[in-house]
Amino acid sequence: MARDNKAMISGFRCLCAFIFVISACSIASFLYSCQCTSPCHDPGREWGQSLTPNQTIDLLSFPEAWNNLNFPQVPPPWRMKIAVFVKKWPHRSQAGGLERHALTLHLELAKRGHEIHIFTTSPINASSFPKYPFPNLHFHLSKPTAAGYLDQSTVWDQFQAQNSSGSPRRPFDVVHTESVGLMHTRSRKLTNLAVSWHGIAYETIHSDIIQELLRSPEEPQAYSLTERAVKVVEEVKFFRSYAHHVATSDHVGDVLKRVYMIPEERVHVILNGVDEEIFRSDFKAGKNFRRNFGIPKSKTLVLGIAGRLVKDKGHPLMFEALKQMIRENAKFRETAIVLVAGDGPWGSRYRGLGSNNVLVLGPLEQAQLARFYNAIDIFINPTLRAQGLDHTLLEAMLCGKPVLATRLASITGSVIVNGNVGYTFPPTLELLKRALYRVWSDGRGVLEKKGEVARQRGLQFFSATKMAAAYERLFLCISSMSGGDTENQCQFEDSSR
Ligand SMILES: *[C@@H]1O[C@H](CO)[C@@H](O)[C@H](O)[C@H]1NC(C)=O
Ligand SMILES: *[C@@H]1O[C@H](CO)[C@@H](O)[C@H](O)[C@H]1NC(C)=O
Ligand SMILES: *[C@@H]1O[C@H](CO)[C@@H](O)[C@H](O)[C@H]1NC(C)=O
Repeated sequence: MARDNKAMISGFRCLCAFIFVISACSIASFLYSCQCTSPCHDPGREWGQSLTPNQTIDLLSFPEAWNNLNFPQVPPPWRMKIAVFVKKWPHRSQAGGLERHALTLHLELAKRGHEIHIFTTSPINASSFPKYPFPNLHFHLSKPTAAGYLDQSTVWDQFQAQNSSGSPRRPFDVVHTESVGLMHTRSRKLTNLAVSWHGIAYETIHSDIIQELLRSPEEPQAYSLTERAVKVVEEVKFFRSYAHHVATSDHVGDVLKRVYMIPEERVHVILNGVDEEIFRSDFKAGKNFRRNFGIPKSKTLVLGIAGRLVKDKGHPLMFEALKQMIRENAKFRETAIVLVAGDGPWGSRYRGLGSNNVLVLGPLEQAQLARFYNAIDIFINPTLRAQGLDHTLLEAMLCGKPVLATRLASITGSVIVNGNVGYTFPPTLELLKRALYRVWSDGRGVLEKKGEVARQRGLQFFSATKMAAAYERLFLCISSMSGGDTENQCQFEDSSR
């Protein structure tokens, strides 16, 4: 009896200590909500905490990003026949996010042995269509509609033909559409279908608000906010016609469940991934790149920008911030240089800032882009587009570089989750400048430390392998649900934890 009491008292003490630690942490995290480095307020570490070792997870209702889970590296013995609908197949590496996602994911799945049929539009110059060394990767091209979409009745006929092809006859195990590649009018018939969203109207409203706040009085209003809200309502109505939804950021997963009211077990978060064999840390390549472009040793801070140099991506803001900093601060002018990769109207303006401080490199092929990331100290993405999840941030992280980006929900929720991987700024000129000065004063030593954390995080979450393994498992799960497999692929036990 006495022993039981003693045990109870010490148990009670433990509990008190535990409560004390928890409340201390929550106060601390309240006080330092931005810069806190304490493990108590580190969403990166909070991820996956709901899991205990060897716990069996019901994947379809798993609330976090599937990138948290360690699916087996080896492909499953069962090879799926997968139909993919994508408006446009990328021909060059400078494609948009949706196309890059389609390319990276489905080449990876083809590598894993699955039979992939891609239904996409034919390019203007058919002989320029890329070729791949996979006999199990098939393209079915069709002429786009006047608005550039997939012609739904043509692709449906092509799909039906392939669904009854093969000997013995083999229907598709699963259908994947990148955004509205396959429209809801056709999709509603399919239970073994997943749609990946790369930008939804609800996110776009945030971009509209930012653009409206930054608009100068003489510029006309770009979008009607009322029209956008109507668009959200339309999406809420037709999204439910798709059986399964893949959100490419935690934020969008949340919006799909709460605002779009899609049942939880039909919304899955799988973050974008990039090719980790191309985008990796390579000190020597970075050094050579700097030497080839004649960057002097006196430049102790090399900033990098990449992508389309257009207004949407925040380049007017970035340009103005740099212009002011170069003008007002002689020390910054001497010690900092910005490398700009990519093309677009703002390229020539950046060039106007003088080659002593800004080098405009033009668009770079993937391998060269990887060297570019390795040559810089920090990657900056001032994007004002809240839609989707920018691949450039992930590429820079996999190359071991910290990132500075706009404080958008998709970015703070899934990528720059704390100050250990980089910096975020609310999109105003003043706050961007403040963030840039902060980066500059932190200097190379601090940036290298953050870069290493960014690389670890990149490898853990944003590799193409990780993304493909998660999609593969989702596809196995939803195809088995529709009657294909005997084993339940929707349950998962992560024994590597
Ligand atoms: C989890 O499973 C693995 C492999 O089956 C085993 O080696 C390990 O001890 C288990 N861990 C726990 C905490 O049960
Ligand atoms: C079409 O693409 C091929 C291969 O890239 C190229 O050699 C050819 O000149 C192109 N034709 C036209 C009309 O652009
Ligand atoms: C594909 O073929 C299978 C097997 O014949 C059939 O059950 C299924 O309905 C077909 N899918 C579509 C969308 O027609």
